[in-house]
Amino acid sequence: MSKRVFLTRYLVEQQRHDGRIPPELRLLLEVVARACKRISLAVNKGALGEVMGSADSENVQGEVQKKLDIIANEVLIEANEWGGHLAAMASEEMEGIYLVPNRYPQGEYLLLFDPLDGSSNIDVNVSIGTIFSVLRKPEGDRGVEESDFLQPGCQQVAAGYCVYGPQTTLVLTVGDGVAMFTLDREQGSFVLTEENVRIPEDTKEFAINMSNMRHWDEPVRRYIDECLQGKEGPRGKDFNMRWVASMVADVHRIMTRGGVFLYPWDRREPTKPGKLRLMYEANPMGWLIEQAGGAATNGRQRILDIAPRTLHERVSVILGSKNEVERVTSYHNPL
Ligand code: AHG
Ligand code: MN
Ligand code: MN
Repeated sequence: MSKRVFLTRYLVEQQRHDGRIPPELRLLLEVVARACKRISLAVNKGALGEVMGSADSENVQGEVQKKLDIIANEVLIEANEWGGHLAAMASEEMEGIYLVPNRYPQGEYLLLFDPLDGSSNIDVNVSIGTIFSVLRKPEGDRGVEESDFLQPGCQQVAAGYCVYGPQTTLVLTVGDGVAMFTLDREQGSFVLTEENVRIPEDTKEFAINMSNMRHWDEPVRRYIDECLQGKEGPRGKDFNMRWVASMVADVHRIMTRGGVFLYPWDRREPTKPGKLRLMYEANPMGWLIEQAGGAATNGRQRILDIAPRTLHERVSVILGSKNEVERVTSYHNPL
């Protein structure tokens, strides 16, 4: 039997390999992975733990918080605040940034996360996940401010997600391709199960919430309409549709077998650029997808080039198989 490579070894080798990741970043990723393990255990308990249902509170975006949203947020903060690798954190579940308390050493990195993605699926036992993004703290001796987080996605130094499904899978990039790790529950360790993940450039599978169709803009309507016409239409092939309603699960399927995911701007709330959040959903996922050979845009420009203006900024998202994303983007940007 070939030797198993655990996450720790993978990260140590990344560090040794021309110093691809500094020791502090290695520690950070280990700590995030450990937090994901704890969240995975809480998720698995389900009705046997105090994890189901609503927490009777709202987050900054006006969304009802589930108990697990809050638990996952606390687990990530507690795991990360004392190690000396971070200066501050930001989360979907916290209005402002969280500064590492000054009783702990201050590190060079900023961590952003969506602690629990796919909240509506918790109580129905469907895959959910955690998404995270790592940035470097800008140079200088002054304390960290919210504006320090407002860096475009192309400046991320690490990004990943962990999907809590039939298996718990951690998917990671440090800018050198995408690696996948499966949690061995008996051993409590993440084991490398795929390296150099590649997303096929073409696909016959799309993911979009079709119930919003009447609110879409013309380019998205045209794209989906052409897919729906199947073999007889301009695309000349039949398409399949999937929508889990957990971005992690939909992105993970695309990582595994290709596809295109759309959560576009729509007319329900015309002043909002979209539903998903740029800094801790679209940026990390966009970078992972690009690192696996796919593409990610907001219909008009590359997600990773968007200069964020606020921490909880929303964005229209089209990502996945390269040729399909380029097609939808070209419908938004006619020559
Ligand atoms: P979150 O649970 O972190 O708020 O994110 C939910 C997001 C995303 O995971 C998913 O793709 C989308 O919301 C589902 O939206 P609909 O309910 O409109 O399908
Ligand atoms: Mn989310
Ligand atoms: Mn969330």
